[in-house]
Amino acid sequence: MRRIHHVGIVIRDLAAAYRFYRDTLGLPLVKEARLPDQGVRAALLAAGETEIELLEPLDASSGVGRFLARRGEGLHHLCLDTPDIHAALGALKETHVELIDTAPRPGLAGQIAFLHPKACCGVLVELATPAEDTAAEPSPVRLKRLVVGARDVKQTAGVFRSRFGLTEVAMNDGPRTMLGVGRGAILIVPSEEVGGTEGMVALSLVAEDFESLMAAFDRASTKCLRGTGEVTVEPESSHGVHLHISRYE
Ligand code: CO
Repeated sequence: MRRIHHVGIVIRDLAAAYRFYRDTLGLPLVKEARLPDQGVRAALLAAGETEIELLEPLDASSGVGRFLARRGEGLHHLCLDTPDIHAALGALKETHVELIDTAPRPGLAGQIAFLHPKACCGVLVELATPAEDTAAEPSPVRLKRLVVGARDVKQTAGVFRSRFGLTEVAMNDGPRTMLGVGRGAILIVPSEEVGGTEGMVALSLVAEDFESLMAAFDRASTKCLRGTGEVTVEPESSHGVHLHISRYE
């Protein structure tokens, strides 16, 4: 896996989500399309070497529509960039990993396939092989890591390591495990640290110009908790997503 291609977020209304993610946070829009087979209108916004995918259901009966009704807005899936999706799916099939898509299909990110959430400890994982190598669009804020809650951190880390060949990034001994993916990382924490949640719980981002971002939050009346050099956006302002943003170092 070369990098986190994107993190998918289910939102109620794309226009409203653009106001926060594109206009306030400043993530450049890469592309937007209607994907009737997935029942969504979807948009990709650049966030460093990674992207944020916003998913608005086209109707209440689609998978994403049902997710929105059941869970509300928030983190939905993790997409990993693999150079050869046919080979990656073949290897997963050989080890009997549960898949939603047994063959790649066209999606917003290129040729894509979803694994079953049961296959990755409650995290819905998408694999994507982009059509061509496009240079990442410069963005003032970049995604640093995805935080995943796990009942058993070592076991969940083991599943991600064996499924996707991720390697552990050196950390102090402790209850957490960090797995590197490209320049980003997946941080696995005990679910009791994150209100009992298993699966994706938060995103950590880095802002190149922290002061400008704080000024943008002021103008937009973004609800957040500010510390020195870091800010946590309240999920009601970020469409159900816990966002930790720190100053670039
Ligand atoms: Co996706």
